[in-house]
Amino acid sequence: MSERILICVAWPYANGPLHMGHIAGAYLPPDIFARYHRTKGNEVVMVSGSDQHGTPIAIKAEQEGKSPVEIVSRYHRQFLECWQKLGISFDLFTSTGTANHTEVTHDIFLTLLEQGYIYRDIVSQPYCPECRRSLPDRYVEGTCPFCGYLDARGDQCDNCGRPLNPGELINPRCSICGATPEFRDSEHFFLKLSAFEGQLLDWVKQQTHWKPNVLNFTVSYLEGGLKDRAITRDIEWGITVPLDGYEGKRIYVWFEAVIGYLSATKEWAKSAGDAEKWRSFWQDKATKSYYFVGKDNIPFHTIIWPAMLLGYGNLNLPYDVPANEFLTIEGRKLSTSQNWAVWLPDYLERYDPDPLRYLLSINMPETHDADFSWHEFFRRNNDELVATYGNLVHRVLTFVNRYFEGCVPVPGELDSSSQALLDSTRDTLNTMDELLYRCRFREAMRTAMSLAQETNRYLDEKSPWKVIKQDREAAGTSLYVAIGVLSGLSVALYPFLPFSSQKLHEYLGFEGDIQDGGWQLVMPAPGQKLLPPEPLFSKLDEKLAEEEASKLGHTSR
Ligand code: MF3
Ligand code: ZN
Repeated sequence: MSERILICVAWPYANGPLHMGHIAGAYLPPDIFARYHRTKGNEVVMVSGSDQHGTPIAIKAEQEGKSPVEIVSRYHRQFLECWQKLGISFDLFTSTGTANHTEVTHDIFLTLLEQGYIYRDIVSQPYCPECRRSLPDRYVEGTCPFCGYLDARGDQCDNCGRPLNPGELINPRCSICGATPEFRDSEHFFLKLSAFEGQLLDWVKQQTHWKPNVLNFTVSYLEGGLKDRAITRDIEWGITVPLDGYEGKRIYVWFEAVIGYLSATKEWAKSAGDAEKWRSFWQDKATKSYYFVGKDNIPFHTIIWPAMLLGYGNLNLPYDVPANEFLTIEGRKLSTSQNWAVWLPDYLERYDPDPLRYLLSINMPETHDADFSWHEFFRRNNDELVATYGNLVHRVLTFVNRYFEGCVPVPGELDSSSQALLDSTRDTLNTMDELLYRCRFREAMRTAMSLAQETNRYLDEKSPWKVIKQDREAAGTSLYVAIGVLSGLSVALYPFLPFSSQKLHEYLGFEGDIQDGGWQLVMPAPGQKLLPPEPLFSKLDEKLAEEEASKLGHTSR
């Protein structure tokens, strides 16, 4: 029976380029997942968009002497180009700057207000007497009241991960000039998170299929008690408050960004020609929704967004939030400000998408942090992608082209090792099916690669290149089996390596989109005409690894 799957992907801030940490943490996993489910024949919608609001964007615009709109449109365009080149197959990648998003945000705001889950209160707000401006949360720093970390920010502590209010910081200071902020009174709207504490805890405790780190973090967070949070700010850049008398205030970026999942699904439905179609993804209890987000975004997706959904009513809660851990770069914590990052647009200018997708899959920071190193990138490309998989494909296809007129050989009877290899191809697809369904991407990738190794051993043993001289049928039989495995591998690897899998699909003489063939082994028919193959991957000069690595850490870029 086919399933309906909603894939929600974290909205990147449109104030800087994407880097490897983003891709490994939040963007590659949902794409693998979406391609897998589409191949299974499930109904998939994958949405996200640029997160265009928030103070960092306003400040960046100020610094560059541009309008925030100019900044966000520049990066939005860049994101779209990256998704296309890297093959991240969103059904819709929109932005929080659309009229539709404002409309949906206003509806949620007003409904929660009506239900009593949003209320007004006076807050004392940080104001820097030196800079003469009211300070956004993240521009106040100080000591975390929970874990004692000295450099916690007013919106979140990077050490213990808890969201904070700036007023909770011990010894607060202005992060721009270091002065001690004053706190001034201002009227704001609050989300009554405290009202959902018990309900959320009951719900979260049932989510035993969540990753242990996500589950444990969320439970202990909830057990610490939920405080109501201000969801408006005294700034100009952002979504307006839909009530008279609040013209100088804007809705807090985190409150509206998470609403993007819903507004984007609505936008997708409209452009698909059936405006009501979003309902089956949000209101049908059988639909499963997955939220792919970085580790630092967990509480917004396991607590705050679910609270908003409960308050609004009749919308599905997340089914899973398979957040990844962090990616370090050459053994060091990634830092955009120190330019200790590998930027995706730079990468895509020089290299193909699949080798990166391969490395980040086989070494995905799924359950613990993983490291990206250029040396490993080159090594895995050359020793694994090219040597194990690419060469296997190439030697089978070129040989068949040369000695069998480019047609799938007609096999004789299959001996036990041939039969065993085809069984193992089907087993691989089944095992991967289970792993991918549970978002275990790294292990699924490893499973596929071991089938490629097994096939290399099989061919070494059968040596059709030698056998052909005495026994053409025997050689044809083992090549027929190998071609069958390649067909299986093209499907198995498709979610990870979509570009090369589609090519292989065509080299094998199949037409159309590989995704349409289903998650199964389709044996090419004897006599099927193959296309003349090109190598799927190319060897890279390992000497370049050092050159690439030496670009890290230089701050002028
Ligand atoms: N822009 C946020 C970040 O990059 C993520 C927002 S995810 C959201 O950390 F969809 F919830 F907004
Ligand atoms: Zn802390």
